[in-house]
Amino acid sequence: MPEFFHVADVADVSDPGKILVEVDGEMIALFHVSGSFYAIDDVCTHDGGPLVDGELQDYTIACPRHGAKFDIRTGAALSMPAIRPTLAHDVNVENGSVSVRIREPGSGPSGNPAPASVPAVGAVHAVSSQKGDTTTGSHDTTSANTTSANTTSANTTSANTPTETQSLTSQTLSEDLVRELLKQVKDPELFVNIVDLGLIYDVSFSQAPDKSKQLVSIDMTMTSPACPAGPQLIADTKRVVNTHEKVADVEVRIVMEPPWTPDRMTDDARDQLGIF
Ligand code: FES
Repeated sequence: MPEFFHVADVADVSDPGKILVEVDGEMIALFHVSGSFYAIDDVCTHDGGPLVDGELQDYTIACPRHGAKFDIRTGAALSMPAIRPTLAHDVNVENGSVSVRIREPGSGPSGNPAPASVPAVGAVHAVSSQKGDTTTGSHDTTSANTTSANTTSANTTSANTPTETQSLTSQTLSEDLVRELLKQVKDPELFVNIVDLGLIYDVSFSQAPDKSKQLVSIDMTMTSPACPAGPQLIADTKRVVNTHEKVADVEVRIVMEPPWTPDRMTDDARDQLGIF
C-alpha cells in the first residue's frame, strides 16, 4: 500500500485556503476548510485545468478555465463541463504535520463519482483557524493526465425513424433545416445533441458544380480542444447533412474561438443535464 508523504505543516495553509503540493511525483491540490484537510488531483477532468488556481467556496473548487466545479471532499464533478470526478486522496494530520497518501483510480470511495452530500473521506481535523487564500503558484497542465472515457467507437447519432429522416431530407435546404438534421448527432459523453450543446457556430452554403445542389460549410467547436469524440462527431455531422437530397458535399471546420462555454447550451440541454 502507498505510504503517506509529509506535504505541509498545518500552519502553512490558511483556513479556508489551498496550496499546490507534489506527492510522489503527482501534483495535488491540498485544501484546508473548517479545520479539516482534503486532497484531490490538481487536474480538471474536463480538459486538464489546474484546480488549485480556481475559486474555493466552502467545499467546492471551480476550475479557472471553463468553470466546472468539484467537491474537494470526494473529487466528485458537480457541474458542467466536467462530468467525471477527479481523484481524491487520503490525508492525515498529526502533530501539526499534514501528510497525503496517493490513491489509485478506483481504489476507494473517494475515487468514484459522489454527490456533494457524501461525508468527507480521508480528512482529519487540524488546528489552524487562519483566514485567507494561500494559493501558492500555478503549473503547466499541458501534459496533465486527463482521464477520459474511450468514446472513439461510440455511436453518436441518435435514432430517427425513417419517416422523420425522409421528411427532413426532402425539405427546402436552409440553415434551420441543417441544424434540425444535426440534432441527430449526440455527444457520446453527455447524451445531448450538438446543436443544443451550442457546438454549431455557423452554417453557410455555396453552389456546387452540379447547379442543382449545394456545398454546405459548417463551423463547429468542441467542449475542449482534446475532445476524444471529435473525429466521430465530425464524421456524423457530415453524414447526416449529406443525407439531404440537395447537398453535394459537406465541409466541417473546427473552430476554437470563441471557446465553448456552458452558457452556449440551450435550455433544453440544461434540462437534460440537470443544470438550472
Ligand atoms: S478545463 Fe476545467 S472546466 Fe474546462
